Amino acid sequence: MKERIEQLSGEFAAALGKATDAKSLEELRIEYLGKKGHVAELMKGLRDVADKKAAGQLINSFKTEVEAKLTEATEALERAAVEAQVRGAKKYNPSLIAERELGSYHPITLVSREVEAVFESMGFTIEDYAEIVGDYECFEALNIPKHHPARDMQDTYYLDNGQLLKTHTSAAQNAIMKKYGAPLRAIFPGRCFRNESTDACHENTFFQMEGMMIGEDISISNLIYFMKTMLSEVFNRDVKVRLRPGFFPFVEPGFELDINCEICGGKGCPSCKNSGWLELCPCGMIHPNVLRDGGIDIEKYSGFAFGLGLTRLAMMKYGVKDIRDFNSGSLRALSQFKSL
Ligand code: DAH
Repeated sequence: MKERIEQLSGEFAAALGKATDAKSLEELRIEYLGKKGHVAELMKGLRDVADKKAAGQLINSFKTEVEAKLTEATEALERAAVEAQVRGAKKYNPSLIAERELGSYHPITLVSREVEAVFESMGFTIEDYAEIVGDYECFEALNIPKHHPARDMQDTYYLDNGQLLKTHTSAAQNAIMKKYGAPLRAIFPGRCFRNESTDACHENTFFQMEGMMIGEDISISNLIYFMKTMLSEVFNRDVKVRLRPGFFPFVEPGFELDINCEICGGKGCPSCKNSGWLELCPCGMIHPNVLRDGGIDIEKYSGFAFGLGLTRLAMMKYGVKDIRDFNSGSLRALSQFKSL
């Protein structure tokens, strides 16, 4: 028995020296301490031994030694792994900013900023205005008296106190004229609301950008120049526009400014109702009643105004076919627009 244990002890020491990973240590444990391992086999051999007590003690101390050596080797291995990790780790650098997933701008914000930059470079100021306004600002100050049929086109949401969600950015015209007087160059982007059913090209909540230029001798040529410059900058090329007569009570004469449909290139498609043209920017020379209500001397000054469909511009610029995507809150759709 004693010789057998000495032999096993030697073999174990040799095998342990070669075991360099957790897997081989585990194999060794099974080989020696497992149910059918060498220790179990020694115990079985006790039956044939005369001095069972002495032999049992020998087996026990061998077993304890194997267990201790295996534990020690496992711990050493774990320590080595941690040390390697620490040695290999990047050094702490307090000036490094952790990499983070950044958010993205909403496509409406992107086009809005782009258009703002173009107008700013032409001397326009950018104004902010409320979303909740009174009937006066939204309609009456714009030459749309109560019961005027033009109100039918712009149903909106009313508050209990008689105020309403503005249907167009034109609602800020009166206040801005009163604030600055003439001469004046201003643009005012904003969210607008209409009570209407939604489909691929209609939303109850959308964005416009209104612009006004008031001064001496302002004419339709100025209007066309500013519109064309802005659109060429935004689309990065000379954009084809066409001007048609259009009726809006707050301008006289009034126009519809159409651009060549970007989606089909002017051939005709569902997005442009097969006409090849898209209404993008109604505009006109500000009606004398509107100027007068804004406190402007109509003998001296004239001006133009426009109401750019910002949401529609974003659809054209990025090829978005369904207007409802903008308010969808879908990160998959909206996180595609990162640049500024
Ligand atoms: N406010 C008009 C609308 O939303 C658009 C508009 C037309 C604005 C002509 C203007 C303008 O400034 O001159 O339907």
